[in-house]
Amino acid sequence: MIGLIVIIIHVKLSPVNLSGRPMNTHPLYHLIQNSTLMTSLAKEYGTPLYIYSEERLLANLDRLNNALKTNFNKYHICYALKANSNPALIRKMKNHLRSIGADCSSPGEIHAAKLAEIDTHECIYTGNYESPKDLQVAYNSGCHLNLDDITSFHRLKKIGIPNEISFRFNPGFGKGTFPQITTAGKKAKFGVPKENIIEAYRLAKNVGVNRFGLQCMAGSGVLEVDYFPALLKAILDTVVEIQTKLDIHFSYISMGGGLGIPYHENESPLDIDTVFNDLGEIFHSYFGEVKNVPALWIEPGKYLVGDAGILLSKVTGIKKSYRTYIGLDSGMETLMRPALYNAYHRIHKIGYSDTEKMLTVDFTGRICENTDRLATERQFPKTKEGDLVAIMDTGAYGFSMSHNFNTRPRSSEIILNNGTSKLIRKRESIKDIFRNCIT
Ligand code: LLP
Repeated sequence: MIGLIVIIIHVKLSPVNLSGRPMNTHPLYHLIQNSTLMTSLAKEYGTPLYIYSEERLLANLDRLNNALKTNFNKYHICYALKANSNPALIRKMKNHLRSIGADCSSPGEIHAAKLAEIDTHECIYTGNYESPKDLQVAYNSGCHLNLDDITSFHRLKKIGIPNEISFRFNPGFGKGTFPQITTAGKKAKFGVPKENIIEAYRLAKNVGVNRFGLQCMAGSGVLEVDYFPALLKAILDTVVEIQTKLDIHFSYISMGGGLGIPYHENESPLDIDTVFNDLGEIFHSYFGEVKNVPALWIEPGKYLVGDAGILLSKVTGIKKSYRTYIGLDSGMETLMRPALYNAYHRIHKIGYSDTEKMLTVDFTGRICENTDRLATERQFPKTKEGDLVAIMDTGAYGFSMSHNFNTRPRSSEIILNNGTSKLIRKRESIKDIFRNCIT
């Protein structure tokens, strides 16, 4: 369904900063200021509704690609499908940057890549505790295989021996916005530790593998420029050690994802040009004189889609109890991040006027769990039932982590381009939820 929406631009003041800290203006703030547009989208598609901005998505991709192009001769972007596997969104990226590949973590994500016409030879498959069935699908798909452990390699050998293999390296440290999304280090379940990494490649070489990659995904949501060079140095020290000890050559080195976005109004966006300039210098200092330099791969998820999406929701009930609650038609089943990590997402009232009285509120949904919170102790303008709110930065790990708890159907998704909206996923129905049930 395609609806042409006339955008009426309302000139308004920047969002109020009650703490007095410097603020960043959200890249989609202009969209949610347009209450005529938001109201008509809610009417046409219903709420809760995931809305993605095509302009922002492609701008994110361009910015990243340019930073890589400026600093690396050989590089490859594998979009991490776990962040948002809607095939229409992936296809938009593919049409914009033909060389884009995908990072897939399951047979379902390989399927999503194929739906978006991404060539599986441009994809990397990174599972963990992979079942023989998963390995078989990944092996048959033609994706580059990145294994989580030596034991994964033993399972893979029973299926077949690929020409090329990569291992996920756990350098013993990592960084993420929360401990729960720090994916390397002594407490992380992922990757091959430093003491076993040479043995992993030795085993692969001994059975005839003749091309190699190395991957490291050490955490998500990092906004510190200095962290990435430190991580790359740790990776490259290990790469050099493996090359020297085993006399093998690496075709690619993947730094995984991890590039952060400013969820808080007082955070600054990551300076991507500085990050890749610094990474380029380090990379060339290790490989400057080498003839066949490995390619640098990255697997961004959050950076590409995170701030390109908002979740539009309707206020269903307001309650003053021991605290004041604003109840929405989306809850932890629609957006898991706040309940799971206590993650912060900006929430804005659609049609907000800065003369409105502010209250301290918790945002909740309709789920029968007390962890059902989208925000706690927020200053928010006076609100009534039926008002619309926009929950920002929900393009990554929003829909893809949504679920059916309390038998709530999952929401629909649309893409917006210059005021034109297109449905890219229908709202799930109650019937859909029970489609596979046998009574
Ligand atoms: N590559 C691999 C192998 C990964 O496991 C991940 C994310 C990525 C790439 C993409 O990372 P990103 O660029 O999005 O940081 N659900 C959490 C994030 C968990 C990330 C897990 N792996 C969240 O909502 O913040």
